[in-house]
Amino acid sequence: MSNETKAPGQIVTILLGIVVLVVVGIWLLAKLATSGFDVNAEVMSKEAVAARLKPIGESVASDAPPGMRTGQQVYSGICISCHGAGLAGAPKFGDAGAWAPRVAQGWDTLVKHALEGFNAMPAKGGAADLSDDELKRAVAYMGNAAGGQFTEPPVGGAEGAAAADPAVVGKKVYASVCMACHDSGAAGAPKFGDKAAWAPRLAKGLDGLVASATKGLNAMPAKGGYSGSDAEFKAAVEYLTNAAK
Ligand code: HEC
Ligand code: HEC
Repeated sequence: MSNETKAPGQIVTILLGIVVLVVVGIWLLAKLATSGFDVNAEVMSKEAVAARLKPIGESVASDAPPGMRTGQQVYSGICISCHGAGLAGAPKFGDAGAWAPRVAQGWDTLVKHALEGFNAMPAKGGAADLSDDELKRAVAYMGNAAGGQFTEPPVGGAEGAAAADPAVVGKKVYASVCMACHDSGAAGAPKFGDKAAWAPRLAKGLDGLVASATKGLNAMPAKGGYSGSDAEFKAAVEYLTNAAK
């Protein structure tokens, strides 16, 4: 499992990648040199170039879990590729003149157009994995930057609440890590749903179980080997123990 040695095929791929990057870079410079842009203008910023090179609809580059991205994160991950520079007739970010007649249509129409698409505006900006609330946050973020007065649906609203529900989180963590031992009872792990095996452990109470499982116990590795947050781990313990009550 070492990354140190690369197969010749991988090296060729990497070299090809570098060549493509250089060619694209030269093309961009040539385009700028002939397009009359002020070289100091925002278009030259690394971020703007990266945004323009990004394929449309690529998932949002952000650490926020799906469904929890803010309007700004969605905008700078997706919408910026057209709305940043005003490509294809897209109303430019922060351009109050371009946005005023659109904002005047009202929130519902703006959201509908962003959801379903509108002329050269693709549905959800081409990012099908965006939740409706995330899309609405981006619409509010862009509208407000151009004089609108919208309220971004809060992160952690109805959609967020489902994502943060301990029962949902616990089940997810269990399925990703804990089931490796607790489904089969490998290495003497108390089996999922096995009331007899869990009864003496449940006597420790949830906090006691969380404490011992966090530290690790004999063949049970610390946190079961889970690398996520303590709250997520606790949710998994709760999920496991609830199933054995
Ligand atoms: C592929 C380019 C592209 C991307 C990506 C894109 N848009 Fe657009 N958008 C457009 C264009 C073009 C228009 C103008 C359409 C028209 O009025 O004919 C537009 C218009 C809009 C409007 C105004 C609609 C109206 O009723 O006037 C909203 C709101 C909007 N976009 C939101 C978004 C959001 C939110 C994202 C990111 C999730 C996004 N767009 C991503 C191209 C894009
Ligand atoms: C590598 C196998 C393995 C994995 C993976 C694993 N466990 Fe365990 N777990 C065990 C074993 C074995 C025990 C019994 C330890 C003992 O009592 O000797 C145990 C016991 C426990 C206990 C009872 C602790 C106590 O004090 O009685 C809890 C709670 C627990 N695990 C939760 C989890 C959770 C939550 C995960 C996933 C995040 C997880 N485990 C992943 C093997 C594992």
